[in-house]
Amino acid sequence: MRMHGIKNRAEVVVNRCQKLAGFSEDLASTRRTFLSPPMHDCHREIAGWLSPLGVKVSIDAAGNLRGVYPAVERNAPKLLIGSHLDTVPNAGAYDGILGVVLAVALLEALGQRRFPFAIEVVGFSEEEGVRFGAPFIGSRALIGRLDDELLSRCDAQGISVRKAIENFGLKPGKISQAVLRADTLAYMEFHIEQGPVLEKLGRPLGVIDTITGQSRLEFTFVGRANHAGTTPMDVRYDAIAAAAEWITAVERLARDTSGLVATVGRINAKPGATNVIAGEARLSLDVRHGSDEARTGAVDNLICLAEQIAKRRGLSVSDNTLLNQQAVRMDPILMNEIEEAIRKTGCEPHHMVSGAGHDAMILAEKVPTGMIFLRTPGGISHDPAESVEVEDVAKAIECGLHLLDQIASSKA
Ligand code: GLV
Ligand code: MN
Ligand code: MN
Repeated sequence: MRMHGIKNRAEVVVNRCQKLAGFSEDLASTRRTFLSPPMHDCHREIAGWLSPLGVKVSIDAAGNLRGVYPAVERNAPKLLIGSHLDTVPNAGAYDGILGVVLAVALLEALGQRRFPFAIEVVGFSEEEGVRFGAPFIGSRALIGRLDDELLSRCDAQGISVRKAIENFGLKPGKISQAVLRADTLAYMEFHIEQGPVLEKLGRPLGVIDTITGQSRLEFTFVGRANHAGTTPMDVRYDAIAAAAEWITAVERLARDTSGLVATVGRINAKPGATNVIAGEARLSLDVRHGSDEARTGAVDNLICLAEQIAKRRGLSVSDNTLLNQQAVRMDPILMNEIEEAIRKTGCEPHHMVSGAGHDAMILAEKVPTGMIFLRTPGGISHDPAESVEVEDVAKAIECGLHLLDQIASSKA
């Protein structure tokens, strides 16, 4: 394999990720949520890279970018390679995006060489769950799980997923056409690790065995709004104070439970004024554990704690589950192939668990799925300081090319 050419390709990948980071809803930082206007620019830019390769690009009704690189023969099965194109607020340039840009680089590196399978590049429209609180809108469409309940869910402006799709110029009635064909061979995703493990071990690439399960819920504490100056402390029903007590209980439980991580990442209070006791506090909860039993047990426990705290303070609390996603094991055959491909690049693969959620965990319900992690400098992600080493991206491209050859020879 020509390493010089691959290093150049890796530099192009990094530059392209940086360019896409400029397509943002915010002026000074990157935020590109589900089907927001800058997603049009992002799609246009990627289509511009794919078209010269003879790749037909379309946007499906869930807003996913789909580009098909043809097989040697017509009507061949498809191998999917991709990741997501949406971001968190104040995002870095690589989470998700790298996996899509890297797939484009793989096709470019093929120099028009064809396989017995078509290769479909997928840029998922939504993985983070920022705009609607529920993640994986894009990948759920591919497995036929983008249901009415999710389509009716509204963002902070009261716009539903369905309406957001229409506003982007797409037709929600055609979502069923986004579903994967039965002859899909596999899905592969390259993604930055977003943690410190590979860096600590000095290894550029990792093989994912399992993606941990995750629960996402919304809690609403309801008390009574009142005057901050005239209401004595013993007759208050302060929703923020109750929420605060519960948040510290969440942290305590996670600290005391091995392998558990739990996060309250967002809190909105009403009416939201300095001199008014909050009558309502709405909070998000994100809970993850490698064991589904431990995760759901922790969620039950936290619901109970919220109820106890609310009752003791004379408030009420309600909870709404937005996601209850089981831990997912990657396909063992693909894991072996990935391990072999990493070895061929001269690197020692490291088997690991992903604490972050990925589109791969959704696709795995329907097709054999494999994931490759790239070392993340400083383990920093979901932040503008997120980065990758060009050399590691080169190794990932090399690994991807070996994988394509291996899959082709296993299907021959
Ligand atoms: C996706 O970034 C996640 O929250 O795991
Ligand atoms: Mn991601
Ligand atoms: Mn992310």
